[in-house]
Amino acid sequence: MIDKLNEAYEKFQAEIETLSAQADVLSLKSSYLGKKGAVSEILKSLKDATPEERKEIGPKANEIKQEIEKLVAKKLSDIELAQINEKLSKNKIDITFTDAVKAKNNNHGGFHPRTLVQQEVEDIFLSMGFEVLDGPHIETEFYNFEALNIPGDHPARDMQDTFWFKDEKSPEGNKHLLRTHTSTIQVRGMQSRKPPFRFIAPGTVFRCERTDASHEMVFQQLEGMMVGKDISVSNLIYFMKEILTEIFKKDVEVRLRPGYFPFVEPGFELDIKCQVCSGKGCSVCKQVGWVELLPCGMVHPNVLRAGGIDPEEYNGFAFGLGLDRLVMMKYGIDDIRHLQSGDLRFNSQFKEY
Ligand code: DAH
Repeated sequence: MIDKLNEAYEKFQAEIETLSAQADVLSLKSSYLGKKGAVSEILKSLKDATPEERKEIGPKANEIKQEIEKLVAKKLSDIELAQINEKLSKNKIDITFTDAVKAKNNNHGGFHPRTLVQQEVEDIFLSMGFEVLDGPHIETEFYNFEALNIPGDHPARDMQDTFWFKDEKSPEGNKHLLRTHTSTIQVRGMQSRKPPFRFIAPGTVFRCERTDASHEMVFQQLEGMMVGKDISVSNLIYFMKEILTEIFKKDVEVRLRPGYFPFVEPGFELDIKCQVCSGKGCSVCKQVGWVELLPCGMVHPNVLRAGGIDPEEYNGFAFGLGLDRLVMMKYGIDDIRHLQSGDLRFNSQFKEY
C-alpha cells in the first residue's frame, strides 16, 4: 500500500506540472483527495490491513495528503502571479513626459520673473569674483540692527517698520524679528571669512507697511559687500556702474545723491532713470522720473568691528540692490503687487527656459 501511495504521489506531481489553469488544478486535487479520489481509494483498503500496517500507512497517507495540499496551493498562487504579470505587461502606462504629451499640453510652468532676474544678476556677480551667500529670514535684533550700527534708541529703527516676534529672546538676550533687509548677511558674512572678500546675498525681506504700486510687505533685496585694503568711493562707483550696464545691457542714466544709512559712511542713493516711463513720470517712479535702485556706501567702522574686522587695517563698500524694483524696470511692470499676485495671466508672460 505504501508503494501505491508513493506511486500516486509521483503521478500527481507529474500531472500538476503540466497544468496552467486554476480550475484544472482544483479538479486534479479532487481526483486525488476527493471522496472518490485516488488517495482516498487506496485508504479505503486500510480496513483489510493488519494493525501494524495501519500504524505505518496512516502517518504516510497523512504526509502525502499534506504534500498534495501544499503543491496545489503553490501552483494556484503561481498561476495567479503569472496572470497579474501578463495583465501588467499588456496595459503598460508610460509615465514619462514623452514628446507626445509635451506637444499636447503646452501649459507647463516657467520661471518667475524674479527668479530670472536673480539668476542673471547672480551670474554677473559670480563673473566678477563675488560669492553668493544666504541667511535666515528670522533674525535677532543684533544682526538686523545693533551690529549694523543701529542701537536700541536709534531713530533709524523707525525707518524700517518691523515685524517682531513675541517669543522668547535668543540665548544672547536678543528679540527675534523678520529681517527688514538683507544687510543682516553683511555681518554673518564678515564673521565667517577673512579679508579680502566680496559677496552678494539675495533674499526676501519683510516690512510692516502699507502697500502701494511701489511698496510691498514682502519683497526681495540683494545685498553686496566688498572688504579689503584701500578700497575707495571710486571703486564703489565703478562697480555700481559696471553692474547696472551689465544688467540692462545698455548705458542707463544714473545719478548719485548723498544718502543716510547708519551702516555706511559716506552713504549714497544711486537712482536710475525710470525705465517704465523713460523718465516722463509714472506710478513706479512716483512721477519723478527717477527710481531709487541702489543705496550704497563705505562700510562704517563700527560695522566692520561687529563683524570681527579691524577698521584700521581694512575697509570696504556695501550696497543693497532693490531686486523687485529691478525686475519692474527690466520688464516694464508698473505695480509691484503683480509680482506675488500668483495671477497666471501675469506669470505666464515671462516663460523662459
Ligand atoms: N539695508 C538698506 C535698506 O534696506 C539698504 C542699504 C543701504 C544696504 C545702503 C546697504 C547700503 O548695504 O550700503 O533700506
